[in-house]
Amino acid sequence: MTANLFSLTYSSTAAVPFDDDALAQLLEASRVSNVATDLSGLLLYRKGRFLQVLEGPEPAVRDAIDRIGNDPRHRDVRILVAEPIEKRRFADWTMGYEPIGAATTPPPAGFRDSFDDLDSGDETLTARALGELALWFRVRSVAAARRVA
Ligand SMILES: Cc1cc2nc3c(=O)[nH]c(=O)nc-3n(C[C@H](O)[C@H](O)[C@H](O)COP(=O)(O)O)c2cc1C
Repeated sequence: MTANLFSLTYSSTAAVPFDDDALAQLLEASRVSNVATDLSGLLLYRKGRFLQVLEGPEPAVRDAIDRIGNDPRHRDVRILVAEPIEKRRFADWTMGYEPIGAATTPPPAGFRDSFDDLDSGDETLTARALGELALWFRVRSVAAARRVA
């Protein structure tokens, strides 16, 4: 039997500015660990703030947020959405990464300068923003793969 899938999205503030090397290191470690624990998701970093979606079996997601929430490299960890899901939104990524702003394709409205859409406190708006973000991320990664090919 497959464990129930769960999705959790949080925002946080970097305790120290993350440069490319620090982010690459964080992603590398996260990807190894997320493969082992069957987690997928997405990490965005913009102007000193993180937004992360973690999805997978509920116990694995809860264990990850406990670890991540205690990480001194960021603070003000705020859970925006925590909900059971039928299907993974970011199945292809052990931890997708996007430095918003460096992209040639503009991110969806509201994400240009902040994560305001997701941070609004309104669950309907957050759910909608998350859906748009998942779509945007998917389209961008397909376009990037085509450029490489
Ligand atoms: C913004 C941010 C995102 C992170 N994302 C993940 C992640 O997706 N998976 C993961 O295993 N660790 C992630 N980490 C690292 C964890 O906080 C922690 O350092 C790592 O799991 C090792 O934990 P341990 O030292 O208790 O074994 C993240 C840390 C930060 C600051």
